[in-house]
Amino acid sequence: MNNLSVSNLIGIKYLDKNDLNLIFQMATSFKEVINRPIKKVPSLRDFTIANLFFEDSTRTKLSFEIAEKRLSADLINFSISGSSIQKGESLLDTVNNILAMKVDMIVLRHPNPGAALYLTQKVDASVINAGDGTHEHPTQGLLDCYSLLEKFGSLKGKKIAIVGDITHSRVALSNVYALKKLGAEICLCSPKSLIPVNAQNLGVELSSNLLETLKWSDAVNMLRVQKERIDKTVIPDLRDYSLQYGLTKSLIEKLDKQIFILHPGPINRGIEITSEVADSDQAIILDQVENGVAVRMAVIYLLASKQKIVPNENYSS
Ligand code: CP
Repeated sequence: MNNLSVSNLIGIKYLDKNDLNLIFQMATSFKEVINRPIKKVPSLRDFTIANLFFEDSTRTKLSFEIAEKRLSADLINFSISGSSIQKGESLLDTVNNILAMKVDMIVLRHPNPGAALYLTQKVDASVINAGDGTHEHPTQGLLDCYSLLEKFGSLKGKKIAIVGDITHSRVALSNVYALKKLGAEICLCSPKSLIPVNAQNLGVELSSNLLETLKWSDAVNMLRVQKERIDKTVIPDLRDYSLQYGLTKSLIEKLDKQIFILHPGPINRGIEITSEVADSDQAIILDQVENGVAVRMAVIYLLASKQKIVPNENYSS
């Protein structure tokens, strides 16, 4: 099957295993392309994408932008500072005005969970969710799984821990959905104040003990403490949090095996992970960033193929 089952990427929840495999297969082809001396393909000439970022971003924003350029798409970047949102214009009016300029696809990062889904109900263009509040960050979930697949070959039966601020993390939910569809076992490890009340319904293990969780794991995804979404009652003392849930070299040395270490970024060095660990050989954090471009090229290409005639360049390996 060469087509995604969806026309928008709102969350991993809405993808099936075939979709994941198709995206990963296409990402592998694009990873080969972007490691060539000429890193560009002409696939999306005459296709225009608007990157709308209503929240700060470094990795996701630049990664989408580079992915679009590598596909030869035209792109425009929008951020709220300096825009008419500051004068009270709504999200939908903003998007409709952008679409009137003959834009074909919207990439949206927004602080409100459900913002990307809302747009799909109001506009015809394809929408990619680049992170909606505490809900999902599907391309991050995809690139995390792709990076793990590069290391393990298959995720069936692999034990993956997701550690830290689960409640405020959109990365956690996208990872849980993707990893489960790929057959991994998952443990969410966090203080009780940072685990959502419905977490036991996700079909994952829950733990509050980092060392025990690490002993169980084949890989660990250390989440950023989302200071901008947290009030002091949930983490009264960041130093105490770091002592209990920060990943340090001494914890790693207590394990009788090597585990892979992921982090979606941006890193709070010295809080959820020390520099020594983040910069160690076991960390695949920059692999994640590199793979993000190929994965986003795959997502954009596959969604554009559903929406518009895109020349078949036969990038499938
Ligand atoms: N991982 C991630 O979403 O990083 P940014 O917030 O920098 O995009």
